[in-house]
Amino acid sequence: MRYKLLGRSGLRVSEAALGTGTFGTAWGWGCTREEAAELFAFYVEAGGNFFDCADGYQNGEAETILGGLIAGDRDEYVVSSKYTSGVGARSLGKTGNSRKAMMASIEGSLRRLKAEYVDIYWVHMPDLVTSTDEILRGLENIVAQGKARYIGISDFPAWRISRAVTMAELRGTEPISAIQIELSLAERSAEREFLPMAQAYGLATLIWSPLGGGILSGKYRAKDVKGRLNQGGGPIRQIEQDREAKILEVLELVAGEQGATLAQIAIAWVCAKEPVGASFIPVLGARTVAQLSDNLEAMKIVLSDEQIARLDKVSAIAPGFPHELMARDQMKDLHSGGHWDSIVLPSSPRA
Ligand SMILES: NC(=O)c1ccc[n+]([C@@H]2O[C@H](COP(=O)([O-])OP(=O)(O)OC[C@H]3O[C@@H](n4cnc5c(N)ncnc54)[C@H](OP(=O)(O)O)[C@@H]3O)[C@@H](O)[C@H]2O)c1
Repeated sequence: MRYKLLGRSGLRVSEAALGTGTFGTAWGWGCTREEAAELFAFYVEAGGNFFDCADGYQNGEAETILGGLIAGDRDEYVVSSKYTSGVGARSLGKTGNSRKAMMASIEGSLRRLKAEYVDIYWVHMPDLVTSTDEILRGLENIVAQGKARYIGISDFPAWRISRAVTMAELRGTEPISAIQIELSLAERSAEREFLPMAQAYGLATLIWSPLGGGILSGKYRAKDVKGRLNQGGGPIRQIEQDREAKILEVLELVAGEQGATLAQIAIAWVCAKEPVGASFIPVLGARTVAQLSDNLEAMKIVLSDEQIARLDKVSAIAPGFPHELMARDQMKDLHSGGHWDSIVLPSSPRA
């Protein structure tokens, strides 16, 4: 296991985080406390120190299980949690992005985790009504109160993250250290705005669902396979059958060349997309130790440029506006007065 820095902070986190969405069974799928303990032990033995959790995962069971597992050596582990969805209750007061929901949520998380602080506290997803400024000030307060060490933003549109990063920078307050995005061969739209943003601002980028919820392991082609996809879980959005079949075909070829599994190649592809200056940290989802062991091996795989190009091609999406327009030679000629080819470009995009 290697370690990366969380954004511009000095916090050293393992190059692959362990997702704890599978810790518990309240959602009708996942793993028992004993199975979660096995996953935890295997991951820690492999050198892992970074746990991704949320108040709502398995309606609070994930935090409770994780709290029991870290209790022996709390300060050694990097523990993160998130607020916004509440803990399974259909509550107006305990959900959303407001400061009220945030303050109630951090107290509940610390209680379930049996901890005095979390290392990273995340706003989980936008509630579409609370301003970025309110969220940012609340997160800063939580750090000032010693209940969190660092802050992050998950599933927000890039323009809102950009505002938060800039506001924190101008005010000289707690910076945004990390973002969470979905990225995989099955879902590549985050490449358009989030990757250049992470690179320009030096944000750590946690990648969730690197296997598209399990689809990219290839196992769901067999009709009788048991897994969370046919237990009501799985990715938020199914990918189209044709595209999926073609991606799995190329994954299978590359896996054969590397002597690896499809899941390992899918995760290795995600890691290969890391832009210079932004640490990419896949959040590994696993229900069994066999799956976790398989997935951790991906960290050792180096794909050739040619293999990456083949995977890129079969999973390609249209870059969209304004990226397609700006990629045109005619535009480059226009905005550089005909000198585009002689300009030495900066190593990372300029914000
Ligand atoms: N910020 C957010 O909004 C957000 C959203 C989603 C997830 N997350 C985080 O990201 C973590 C991972 O997400 P995810 O679970 O969707 O990741 P994923 O890697 O796309 O899917 C993991 C699932 O695929 C199956 N699987 C895993 N490894 C496998 C292997 N080697 N071979 C065959 N099947 C395998 C397992 O399910 P089955 O065996 O049951 O099929 C496992 O639960 C979560 O635990 C959570 O911490 C964050």
